[in-house]
Amino acid sequence: MGTEKEVKTNVFNASDMNSDFIIRKCTVEDLEGVIEVNERELPEDYPYFFYKSILENYPESFFIASKRKNPQKIVGYIMWRIERTPSLNGLKLISKGHLVSIAVSEGHRRKGVSTALLDKSMPAIKNDNISEYVLEVRVSNYPAINLYKKFEFKIHSIKKNYYRDGENAYYMIKEVRED
Ligand code: ACO
Ligand code: ZN
Repeated sequence: MGTEKEVKTNVFNASDMNSDFIIRKCTVEDLEGVIEVNERELPEDYPYFFYKSILENYPESFFIASKRKNPQKIVGYIMWRIERTPSLNGLKLISKGHLVSIAVSEGHRRKGVSTALLDKSMPAIKNDNISEYVLEVRVSNYPAINLYKKFEFKIHSIKKNYYRDGENAYYMIKEVRED
């Protein structure tokens, strides 16, 4: 749904007993585990209330991944928010789905977990009548850029000095097709 990409065979939803991973909606009890993954895997950290407000405002597109054998332990997450900006003529507001953050624990990468997180969350955030999906990514973050390209995101522009350490970001966009 929403993308042409097939979810890899070892990641399915909670009802499939053969898969290694479970993808499910995040709950407030999961936030501690989400923050743990974020702080281990990404230099961009946020205070607890930030995660909590994303969860409160956009619960339908906030997903976590865990191992089926250990469902309490979170190994990945994805969270989105909606951003409203004036249209070119300034007469109405355009909604964009903004990918706030995605990360997967190092030991569980390259198994399709992020692919499954995107596959699940993109149709959910799309329900908010967005015209495009947008995100920023470090220009050096080859794995993530590659992942987004696989989902047909295109590099739109460079945001200079976007990160605290001075690194530039690619601003990547995927248009939402009417289908
Ligand atoms: N090198 C090249 N391509 C890669 C790599 C890599 N190391 N990792 C993923 N990809 C691309 C490939 O095209 C891959 O498909 P393939 O395995 O069939 O070749 C595709 O992405 C899908 O890979 P997944 O297994 O679904 O991705 P994974 O679960 O490993 O997660 C992620 C990818 C999130 C980038 C992970 O490496 C990670 O957590 N990195 C640290 C955190 C991070 O950088 N997050 C993104 C920050 S930007 C933002 O949040 C908006
Ligand atoms: Zn952003």
